[in-house]
Amino acid sequence: MDSIIVNGGKELSGVIPIAGAKNACLTLMPATLLSEEPLTLTNAPRLSDIKTMTQLLESLGAEVTSMQDGQVQAMSCHGAINHVAEYDIVRKMRASNLVLGPLLAREGQAVVSLPGGCAIGARPMDIHTNGLEAMGATIELKDGYLHAKAPMGGLKGAVIDFPFASVGATENIMMAATLAKGTTVINNAAREPEIVDLADCLRKMGAQIEGDGSPSITIQGVDRLHGATHPVVTDRIELGTYMLAPAIAGGEVELLGGRINLIEAFCEKLDTAGISVTETERGLKVARKNGRLSAVDVVTEPFPGFPTDLQAQMMALLCTAEGTSVLEEKIFENRFMHAPELIRMGANIEVNGGTATVHGVNRLKGAPVMATDLRASVSLILAGLAAEGETRVSRVYHLDRGYEQVVRKFSGVDAQIERIKDE
Ligand code: EPZ
Repeated sequence: MDSIIVNGGKELSGVIPIAGAKNACLTLMPATLLSEEPLTLTNAPRLSDIKTMTQLLESLGAEVTSMQDGQVQAMSCHGAINHVAEYDIVRKMRASNLVLGPLLAREGQAVVSLPGGCAIGARPMDIHTNGLEAMGATIELKDGYLHAKAPMGGLKGAVIDFPFASVGATENIMMAATLAKGTTVINNAAREPEIVDLADCLRKMGAQIEGDGSPSITIQGVDRLHGATHPVVTDRIELGTYMLAPAIAGGEVELLGGRINLIEAFCEKLDTAGISVTETERGLKVARKNGRLSAVDVVTEPFPGFPTDLQAQMMALLCTAEGTSVLEEKIFENRFMHAPELIRMGANIEVNGGTATVHGVNRLKGAPVMATDLRASVSLILAGLAAEGETRVSRVYHLDRGYEQVVRKFSGVDAQIERIKDE
């Protein structure tokens, strides 16, 4: 296993290119199951999760060719389809559940392993399955697998009211509805940029979709979808993560490909904390306005609210802000596991259920710490950039799932960082 060593206290300067979005690519790739013609994704991120999705799609009968050093994924699914998504692949990555809707729409049946819980929460799939049942599917849980069958003649359009704006359920139902008979309306749908990116791609494939990005999406089913080429949208979570680097360590960094409208709620909090964010021709420039950071309160919410996937990174920033910040995690029930690790670095944090109170300290101190999930791992690296001395982050395999070339990107702006093999 590898660890990452960070020596803090150095101001940063330079540029960081932002990749295509993991969470867009992971829902765009299963869309290839909806057509017999090729779907090509450009600007794809180079991540272990993308490799896992490739493995899954190949196990279902798709051909996936990775080109241009992994930034282009050419996929096609014209042959026979295997409609069983095996536990051994699904357990590695929850987003595997995004093949359920497309398989059901294309094949009329799907057997998909239930992902089970993960470090940040129980994460059930009831909103996905209730939505598909409203479209006429029958779904049964047997031996840890969801066995889903469409009615004769295929899925039917339906009006579906989500109890919560689930990202994954919106994506699964939207994909399933593209080939259903009639019209589907998803009310209280998720509005994330990744949803809009998926809808854009599906429209290029011939789907009829309106309202994506708003709380109500309407999909008019069609008989078949054709091939397309689609660029993956910029990764707003990778963007937000790297925007915090100069905020935490000082200096100035430009993020190539960044846009404020992808993360407005986050930029508003940075402004309150004393961070300036300016748009440039190529992206965003980030620096502190002046000396010390100010405390800020944060509540995570579905888009356009503050993204839960930037909560851990924001906590790392607020550890050395002047005053007390209160962070409320409203999306996942167990997403403060980075707090005890930051406390090991001298932070002053109290966690009480879904609320964390961060009392700013003057300085963090380097220490050996352990990554527990994807976003927690990068928050520890960010904290290490500001800490005195050496921070050693272990279990960084979590990081590879969602951040490409992380050591190269940080050292490209003068951070003192290296990756080592553990003895
Ligand atoms: C997506 O997960 C992202 N993953 C997550 O990013 C992100 O944190 C999350 O959306 C919220 O923004 C991908 O896109 C691959 P949800 P998803 O369905 O789709 C509950 C990262 O770090 N819920 O919106 O699984 C659920 O338990 C990852 O990149 C139900 O109760 O999120 C959770 O508490 C982590 N029943 C909440 O809703 C359901 O059927 C949000 O889940 C579905 C969800």
